[in-house]
Amino acid sequence: MFDKQIYQKRRTQLINEVEDGIILLMGNDESPMNYTDNTYHFRQDSNFLYFIGIDQPHLNAIIDCNEGTTTLYGDDISVEYIVWMGPQPSMRQRASKSAIEQVAPAKSIEADLAKAKKSGRTIHILPPYRAANKIKLHHWLQTDIQEIPNLVSEKLIKSVVKLASKKGLEEVAEMENAVNITRKMHTATMQNAKAGMIEAELAGLVEGLAVSGGGHLAYSIIMTINGQTLHNHSHSNTLVPGRLLLGDYGAETAMHYAADITRTIPVDPVFTEKQKEIYQIVLDAEMSVINKLKPGITYLDMHLHASHIIADGLKALGLMKGDTDEAVAKGAHALFFPHGLGHMIGLDVHDMEDLGEQYVGYGEGQERSKQFGLKSLRLARNLEEGFVLTVEPGIYFIPELIQQWKSENKFEQFLNYSKIEEYLDFGGIRIEDDVLITADSARVLGQPIAKTIEEVEELRKASL
Ligand code: GLY
Ligand code: MN
Repeated sequence: MFDKQIYQKRRTQLINEVEDGIILLMGNDESPMNYTDNTYHFRQDSNFLYFIGIDQPHLNAIIDCNEGTTTLYGDDISVEYIVWMGPQPSMRQRASKSAIEQVAPAKSIEADLAKAKKSGRTIHILPPYRAANKIKLHHWLQTDIQEIPNLVSEKLIKSVVKLASKKGLEEVAEMENAVNITRKMHTATMQNAKAGMIEAELAGLVEGLAVSGGGHLAYSIIMTINGQTLHNHSHSNTLVPGRLLLGDYGAETAMHYAADITRTIPVDPVFTEKQKEIYQIVLDAEMSVINKLKPGITYLDMHLHASHIIADGLKALGLMKGDTDEAVAKGAHALFFPHGLGHMIGLDVHDMEDLGEQYVGYGEGQERSKQFGLKSLRLARNLEEGFVLTVEPGIYFIPELIQQWKSENKFEQFLNYSKIEEYLDFGGIRIEDDVLITADSARVLGQPIAKTIEEVEELRKASL
C-alpha cells in the first residue's frame, strides 16, 4: 500500500467532489472457478484499491460525505480460518493502514444502508460488473437487479474519473515498475522465439516473468502469429518461418498498476523487406504521435494524425491511392487500422472502463463516431498533465474483411485491391508504449524496449 495519507487525501477530495450523501465502495470477493474452494486469482476492485487500498476480499466501505467519515465493513477471521490461511491482520490494523477510523462487522452494512435509504439520504454507487456484487446490491438496496443501472450515481462516476485520471508521482513510479517488468517479458520473447516453437511456450515464459515481478498479468496474453486477429488469445500455433509474431502483454505490479506493451517481431532472426516496409510505417505513426503529445490537444486528433501517416505510407507502397485527407475522413484506412490509437491506463489496463468509456475517454458533449474504425477509439478527449495512456497504432491484413470490402467495391477510389491481395498472408503489426503526459510534452514510461528494426534484429540474434 502507499502511505495512509494518500488514501485519506483521495477520500477527502472525493467528499469535496460528491458533497452530499453516502458513497458505497464495494470490494471484490473470492470468485469460484469450478467449485467454491477453487477460486480464480483474487483481484480487488480498482476503485476500492484507489480510495481504500486494502487488497483483501470480503470488504466494503461507506464514505459519509456529510460527516466526513469512512467506515470499513468486514470481519476478523476465526482461529479455524487461521488454520488454513495463517495469521491475518485484524480489521482495525487493516483500517489503520488506510487511516480509516471506523470498522464494523460485515453484515451490519445492510442495516446501515437501509437506515440511510429510510432517512432519504442519497446512496452513491458505481456500476457493478460482478454478479456477486449485483446480488448484494439487490438485497442491500431492496431493488430488482435490472433496476441497478438506474441507481448508479453519475456524480460519483464523474468524481472518480476526475481524481483518478491524473496520476500522482507515486502512481507513475509504480507504472514505471510495471513497464520495466514488462520490458523483461518482451526482451525474453525477442531472445527466445524460434521457428518450430508453439506460441504457448513463449506465453508461459512471459507469464512467469510477470509473476516473478511480484504481481501478475494485467490482462490475457496475446502471443500470436495471427496478429491480424486483434484480440487473439489462442496460443496453439507453431511459429513458422516467414511469419510475424505479435506480442501484446503486460504485467501489473503487486499494487496492481498495469503496463500494456506490444511488440511485433519476425519469426526469422531478421525482417523481410516487405515486413520492414509495413513495420516502419507503424513505427513512424507511433513515434510521431508520441512526439506531438502534450496537454491541451485531443487524442481524437492524434488518432487521425496516426491514420494519416498510415494512409500516406500505404499509398507510397501502392496499397492505397487518392487523396489522403478524404480517405481518412471517410474511413478507408480502417481496412488496415480498424481499432483506436489507445486508451487510458492505470490500476486497470483500460483504466476505469467499469465506470463507462464515455466518462473516461470522451469529453462533455463529445460524440463517439459510428464510423468503422473510429467507433473503436476508446480515448478521444483533450489531454491533461498527469494522464497515462497507450499509443498503439497498427496495420493488419484481415483476409475476411479485405474480401468483403472488395466484393462490395468499397472505397475502391482509395484502395488498390489487386496490390492488397498480395498481403493476404502477411498477418498484422502493432507497436504500443505507455506514455505520461507531462507539463509541456510527454514521456514514454520505463526503460526503452527494443523497437526500431535494428534494435529488434539485434536482440533476435540471441535466438540463433
Ligand atoms: N492490450 C489490449 C488492449 O489494449 O485492448
Ligand atoms: Mn492497449
